[in-house]
Amino acid sequence: MANSCFDPNADEANHNTAFDMLADPFRRRLLSAAILTVSGGALAAAGVPLPNLAASAGRASGAIHGFTGIPASTADTVMLPDGYTASLLYAWGDPISDGPHARADAGDDAAAQRQQAGMHHDGMHFFPFVENGKPSPTHGLLCINHEYTDDGLLHRGGMQDWSAEKVAKSKAAHGVSVIEIRREKNSWQVIRPSRLARRITADTPCRISGPARTHPAMITATDRRGEVVLGTVNNCAMGVTPWGTYLTCEENFNGYFKGPPAPSADQKRYGLTENGFGFRWHEHDERFDATRHPNELNRFGWVVEIDPWRPDLPPVKRTALGRFKHEGATVTLARDGRAVVYMGDDERFEYIYKFVSRDRFRAGNPANANLLDEGTLYVARFDNDGKGHWLPLRHGEYHQNGALTAANGFTSQGEVVIRCRQAADLAGATKMDRPEWIAVHPQNGEVYVTLTNNGKRGTPEAPGLNAANPRPENNFGHIVRWRENNHDAASTAFEWDIFALAGDPQNPDPNKQGNIRGDAYGSPDGLWFDPSGRLWIQTDVSTSVLNKGDYANLGNNQMLVADVKSGETRRFLTGPRGCELTGITATPDGKTLFVNIQHPGETASERSDPSRPTAVSTWPASQFPEAVGGRPRSATIAINRNDEKPFAN
Ligand code: FEO
Ligand code: CA
Ligand code: CA
Repeated sequence: MANSCFDPNADEANHNTAFDMLADPFRRRLLSAAILTVSGGALAAAGVPLPNLAASAGRASGAIHGFTGIPASTADTVMLPDGYTASLLYAWGDPISDGPHARADAGDDAAAQRQQAGMHHDGMHFFPFVENGKPSPTHGLLCINHEYTDDGLLHRGGMQDWSAEKVAKSKAAHGVSVIEIRREKNSWQVIRPSRLARRITADTPCRISGPARTHPAMITATDRRGEVVLGTVNNCAMGVTPWGTYLTCEENFNGYFKGPPAPSADQKRYGLTENGFGFRWHEHDERFDATRHPNELNRFGWVVEIDPWRPDLPPVKRTALGRFKHEGATVTLARDGRAVVYMGDDERFEYIYKFVSRDRFRAGNPANANLLDEGTLYVARFDNDGKGHWLPLRHGEYHQNGALTAANGFTSQGEVVIRCRQAADLAGATKMDRPEWIAVHPQNGEVYVTLTNNGKRGTPEAPGLNAANPRPENNFGHIVRWRENNHDAASTAFEWDIFALAGDPQNPDPNKQGNIRGDAYGSPDGLWFDPSGRLWIQTDVSTSVLNKGDYANLGNNQMLVADVKSGETRRFLTGPRGCELTGITATPDGKTLFVNIQHPGETASERSDPSRPTAVSTWPASQFPEAVGGRPRSATIAINRNDEKPFAN
């Protein structure tokens, strides 16, 4: 989602280690390299552990990864390299099981929408059935997030004649789909009916677990015990656990709430405003009116665990992982088997977190189901010398800017996780350029994070540069990576460097040229390693700047593949007009890649004119004759090689 908030009055008292604290020569050298990126092209001369300068003018030469990179595109279609074919699998309005098909005029009611694909597909994962003792490459469950809605497209007449029915439909178009899919005769299909198919919406009861469960700040008029929340919203990126569950992450939850004219400091820290993002749910569902039900705001902003194989079990909000604008929740295992979850808080100048479970994962152990309830939550500090530290957000812990104790408003661990951002401020964590997806290299354990952009970095009223966020007015974003000490994901220290500074080498401003080797891109967001260790990068250039100004040369949003050793990057896919690329997963044999095309046809306001629903795009109908037309539709596509070889070859 392009939405993000920036509050120039946000707490500025909690800067991480300042530039002027740099002392040793290595630190100064790294710092000067970071600043040189600003003043023009001298990184290579600096001899520091930062990436090399651009090797091309924004286009790659030569094939790597088994394909030749494709040019940037502004066409209203999905473009792929020669030898690859995309098919349409699951678009907004498609039935999950035996429900009704979508109507082209969006005349479906809320009850129909509850049985259909939601809007704005985001993170997803393929869970294979086990057949003949092996994970099936052709039969599985696909969990798909539906991040938000464009209510201009969602309803006939858009937001005119706003009603309880339209609010109910909007809530029903949020959440998660679990669908059963199978490949037969080289064609992927949704299995209908399926006893496992399921929609989770903004009204589905979710259990609260972990330290915030039953906390007074979680209690509302309709939940006197603080144990059950209705629904999940703004489900952005995701995670998958070794015990086979799906983690869906609540990102810009603040935008659904009406706030008071003068929000409290705690409400402001989480972006509550008087009108939110204009969803207008509070007009017909009073729990989204935070002036009447202020605690309801505390019940969103969590990581939510779903067992895709158990439609009878409610989703569970795992509060030990902290409350913030969760992008994703990438799970790996520590050397001793503890679960480690990496998470970004996607807002300008917010933080990167990790959770380490108290107990170990053991295959087949029923106790895995609650591994994410007990453990230690950390926040990252990226020091300017290329080292970093994980700072524990434990109740009672003393930190650089104050202790997590009652004196500073933290009376319990429940309070720490609910007011996680304020706790991280006290810890002195590093304010980043919008942390998005995080991916762990499958062979060496290196961790990569996209920092999508931050046009406010270094501006007069905002935090300044640091080595991990080295460019002022960072419109193109970058990718940082780190290596945990002792190659152990549970370590409390790490070493980091910058994998790539995104940009356009043809931009006259050296600060905006980046240093990508190969095909150029900006605003990296989705990030995923395939099993062979190639890094897939999906972009989310805001529709307000797409194909304009600095982004005039970079085309529609796209997906690229990078070799993390050489940095060589090739453009694999370009999306239709107005879309964002987000969500990627593969079958166990590596032959099918599933990708989500989110919000094709989006206008700069992110809310379409209902009288002109196809003003920007008619995708997927523009490409797939079987698609329901009438308006653009977010959709999952399946991509295969025409020669049926795995992608890794
Ligand atoms: Fe939902 Fe930060 O993207
Ligand atoms: Ca984004
Ligand atoms: Ca995203």
